[in-house]
Amino acid sequence: MSAPLSQIVIFGASGDLTARKLVPALVGNAHDGAFPGPVQVVGVSRRLLGDDEWRSDLASWIPAAHEQAWEQLAPHIHYVAADTGRPEDVARLAQWLDDAARERGCEPARAGRLFYLALKPSLFGPSVRSLDAAGLLDCAPGATVGWRRVVVEKPFGHDLPSAQALNADLLAHLREDQILRIDHYLGKETVQNILAFRFQNAIFEPLWNRNHVESVEITVAETVGVEGGRAGYYDTAGALRDMVQNHVLQVLALVAMEPPTTMRADDVRDEKVQVLRALQPFSVEGVARDVVRARYVAGPGREVNYADEPGVPPGSTTETYVAIRAAVRNWRWNGVPFFLRTGKALAKRYTEVVLRFHTPPVDLLGGPVDGDFCALRPNALRLLIQPHEGIRLGFQVKQPGPGSVMVPAELGFDYDDLPHGKETAPAYQRLLLDALKGNATLFIRGDEVEAAWRFADSVRAGWAHEPPPPVREYAAGSMGPAEADDLFRGCEGTWGRG
Ligand code: BG6
Repeated sequence: MSAPLSQIVIFGASGDLTARKLVPALVGNAHDGAFPGPVQVVGVSRRLLGDDEWRSDLASWIPAAHEQAWEQLAPHIHYVAADTGRPEDVARLAQWLDDAARERGCEPARAGRLFYLALKPSLFGPSVRSLDAAGLLDCAPGATVGWRRVVVEKPFGHDLPSAQALNADLLAHLREDQILRIDHYLGKETVQNILAFRFQNAIFEPLWNRNHVESVEITVAETVGVEGGRAGYYDTAGALRDMVQNHVLQVLALVAMEPPTTMRADDVRDEKVQVLRALQPFSVEGVARDVVRARYVAGPGREVNYADEPGVPPGSTTETYVAIRAAVRNWRWNGVPFFLRTGKALAKRYTEVVLRFHTPPVDLLGGPVDGDFCALRPNALRLLIQPHEGIRLGFQVKQPGPGSVMVPAELGFDYDDLPHGKETAPAYQRLLLDALKGNATLFIRGDEVEAAWRFADSVRAGWAHEPPPPVREYAAGSMGPAEADDLFRGCEGTWGRG
């Protein structure tokens, strides 16, 4: 017997995310024949639209290769105009869903329902409240038929107290296992591969600790600025809240966590949260010493200063770049600096994780600079997350000839070289599928969100202190402010070059 109908209800249907990411991801899954059973997609927003109008708005975002899947899915895509804050609208939606399920031959109580909140954060709580009031969230723990789940988009609060309040709001109406907090970085193939690479290979894990690793770097560099009317939102967030609290710390958790007992959601998330809790919050002095914040000014990469971008309020001190020397205070990592950086309007778009290993104990052959071990740092493992997807392992070899000159060399793997081609599915495609299947491994648990905010808030507390640490400047199109280089000390090397 095939799986019962899944009804996917997208709140915020007229928004950008729905058209650009969510519906194309659903069509991608239809193309791959990946859905566990029949699906019905229902867009909900306040705008008055008909099914056909909404479908034609969506059609332009579907890649040509998925045209056929779109033709097949389109008749099952509907639009309901409703205000999630109005109980009578949500009751009408509930009736609509019941009727639509029956029309597809499915008893409404047996249909699975996924409510995707692609909404402003201030609407998360009220929407869940109205869904609950309309009886749309009722389902038994562990139900495989008739399941009800809610997907929540970032940001999950803007600091620890607001994240705790949001979690409490959600948990007043849902069980934790019904809440899927999305971080699209976890849907990226190369991010998922961090755990696969670590725990499906026996040769790296013995080296994956303070005995062998000298430092860890996580760089998430973007070339985009805050175009497209995003400045209003971005200026209230900044690089720390927009990128570090979520994407960068999620990658860090995967790199640094202990092996989970199984890959089940709670086993993985139990280990991730341990790392996030071990991430040492900063003192005010620590922020001044180990954190560099900066914003872009006009340069080769962009003609305007961040401060002059349309929508940035006068007097804003929001950072578009942050670099942090962080510490994970646990048995595995104590003493190993974690260099984290992210920024907008940088020279190059790339995300990578670099593990730099210790130098050899004795320089037998003589390094490039005799006796200077600082210059001799050959062994690094680079996990290339995007746009290049692959892995590199660096080492030294002796240059052929009578002398003993060492030259750098590298072993590499590229996803492009896999026999079945690369074709890594977009992050949302995988995450939506997992949401339908009830696999929460790639979603963030409430305690992870809170632990990550505890760390981010400690940075913000340092910035709020009087006198505040400076907001540095960097030219758009550069790789950030020179001060970020000083986070590496003594013989620790410097940032990778991507
Ligand atoms: C989003 C941030 O979460 O991630 C954006 O809000 C950022 O500011 C984006 O540009 C980066 O995602 P990706 O997948 O392009 O690296």
